Amino acid sequence: ALPPARSHSTRCVSSSRLVLRRRVSGLSQTPRSSTELRRPVPFLGVSQAGWDGDERLWELTFNAAELDFLRGHRVGKVKLLPGTCYIEMARALVHSLHGDTGFVLSDVTFQSILFLDEVELTGPPVVRLTLDLATARLAISSSVEAGSWDTHAAMDLIPRQADATANLEVATVKQRCPESVDGATFYANIGNQYEGEFRQLKKAWGGGATGETLGLVEYARHEKEHVHLRSCAWLDVCTHPGIWWSGRRAQGSFASSVRAYHILKAGVAANRVIWSHLCVDVRREGTLRYYGESMSELVRIEGAQGGFFEVGWLESRRARRHMYDVQWASHTDRVAPAHVLHVGSRYVAGMLHVTAAPATHDRLDAVAFAAGGASTAAGGAHSTAQLVALDAAMSVVQLNVDSPALWFLSSASSASSASDASSQPASLGTHSGASIAGLVRCARQESARVPLFFTVAGNVTAHLACVPSLLDPELEMRCDAVHVPRLRKALLRGGQQASSGMDGMHLITGGTGGLGSLTASWLAERGAASLILVSRSGEVSESSARQLVAGEAKALVCRGDVSDAVAIPRLFAFSSPTLEGCTLRGVWHAAGVLADATLPRQTSTTLRRVFGSKAIGSHSLHRACAAQPLQCCALFSSV
Ligand SMILES: NC(=O)c1ccc[n+]([C@@H]2O[C@H](COP(=O)([O-])OP(=O)(O)OC[C@H]3O[C@@H](n4cnc5c(N)ncnc54)[C@H](OP(=O)(O)O)[C@@H]3O)[C@@H](O)[C@H]2O)c1
Repeated sequence: ALPPARSHSTRCVSSSRLVLRRRVSGLSQTPRSSTELRRPVPFLGVSQAGWDGDERLWELTFNAAELDFLRGHRVGKVKLLPGTCYIEMARALVHSLHGDTGFVLSDVTFQSILFLDEVELTGPPVVRLTLDLATARLAISSSVEAGSWDTHAAMDLIPRQADATANLEVATVKQRCPESVDGATFYANIGNQYEGEFRQLKKAWGGGATGETLGLVEYARHEKEHVHLRSCAWLDVCTHPGIWWSGRRAQGSFASSVRAYHILKAGVAANRVIWSHLCVDVRREGTLRYYGESMSELVRIEGAQGGFFEVGWLESRRARRHMYDVQWASHTDRVAPAHVLHVGSRYVAGMLHVTAAPATHDRLDAVAFAAGGASTAAGGAHSTAQLVALDAAMSVVQLNVDSPALWFLSSASSASSASDASSQPASLGTHSGASIAGLVRCARQESARVPLFFTVAGNVTAHLACVPSLLDPELEMRCDAVHVPRLRKALLRGGQQASSGMDGMHLITGGTGGLGSLTASWLAERGAASLILVSRSGEVSESSARQLVAGEAKALVCRGDVSDAVAIPRLFAFSSPTLEGCTLRGVWHAAGVLADATLPRQTSTTLRRVFGSKAIGSHSLHRACAAQPLQCCALFSSV
């Protein structure tokens, strides 16, 4: 990232460009052996084309060590290839064609970002350098889907030695820079979260009237082996001081173009201590010079243009690329198991009876438990039905630990449409089905033996006769077809943005607890007009109360147990006179109690306690607020 220059650059039109272009072409036609051409050069890769014609092409795939190193470069928190990497690629190219000579990169434009935050998923990017000998234009691109290429940077390449300016007079520059910041303070307070060798600014000076800055970059040792990586890092770090005195240090900063990039020394072996000096002229245009330990000039950047991202903007753009939903795809592979033992639950006179699988089951392939389906009961009856079903399912897990396989069956409701393969299975949309699916997922985490959850629409026995031999742990059988869940990239509507304003009224269950009260103060800071904080005790800690009093939001602390299905409607009814005129805009469900234990150690009581505030609470909030025009609804969970 380069600091933004404060004036517009003009395109550099070198009078000697044509002559220089000829130099590029002439020198590049030096005959080279094919072995030499196929040898990969760091940051340049392997030559791809023949040496006739007007184009030279190299392809490069970063190795793991290079990627690891480069991912220390961040804009905000996002790992992306630094613009200095393109400069290093040009350096590698010039070195390969012309040996150790200085050169100029002019009219440098950074067109698109090469992100490095998805490398684990997508593999290392394939980068291509194309040099057009007729125009001396170098373009750097990387492959994207379906064989197309995305251009990241383009520049004119001129192998010419620029004249060095006088050596750096550190003491004189410091006199004009009244402020200073040490490296640790600098990196703790800026928006770009650099790591590794991209975090090596030792000290910076600035703050004078002219916008001049001085930076000292210092590494523990000289880099002799991976000089290209070290150069990438110090070329970038030398631009950091400008961020501190930019007035926007908390934001992610980036470079968009550079009028001319003069590399005065091609092979930079002395790379432990580097100084950078930014001068701003009367037209407010900045020139950044880099000096080696001997204070002689190494690099000069003229006319850099850049910008700043709003805090969190790039991060949220990246996060949206990783949102997925589940698509239920049909599957045809079926094998009937030999022996399935069906067990079920009965709820007789307040007592739950669960049938256990026999202790010896030599010929048993699976135990199938009918876990119940959608309940049509409302309110409290519904909650009881959910808990009974969940309790029974938990007993089955506890009683059948030695079963060869354990299946949970849940019947789909008539709302399930056979043709709607992309929707949730109907039973996951019901509360008993969803909670049992959750329990089954927990069981899978705790035991190597994988319980299977499936929903069945239609004749259960007929379906079980042809259970698929799938590795999928969850499936649904609808109208003779088996559906299995598959992740797909979520299709998000454009322009979905988190609202910065949080006006109106917000309900926070567990609002007196740790995260609930933090959420309350956060909402108050963002303009919430009133807050309803609910908990069983209705007691707020002294520090939370102080925070709330300090804010402008009106806070109402209410006593209520969200596991009681009528608690939320009752609360709305009682608080409506106090909160008259306020529109409910947000629900924050942070109520919860901990009763952590592995499944064999859970009991009906512990289950009830946790499930009550979390699941029944969510359900009754959903019912009570279904008709409200909510701006947001957040459910606090644990993984
Ligand atoms: N803290 C963490 O590190 C963390 C991490 C991941 C997820 N979470 C999630 O965030 C939630 C909140 O965490 P926290 O640290 O803020 O917990 P906390 O400090 O224990 O607060 C929980 C709050 O919920 C209230 N509450 C409990 N049961 C209730 C019920 N049935 N009806 C109404 N209010 C009830 C409690 O007040 P009363 O006891 O007076 O009812 C308390 O105000 C947790 O439940 C968990 O799901 C927390």
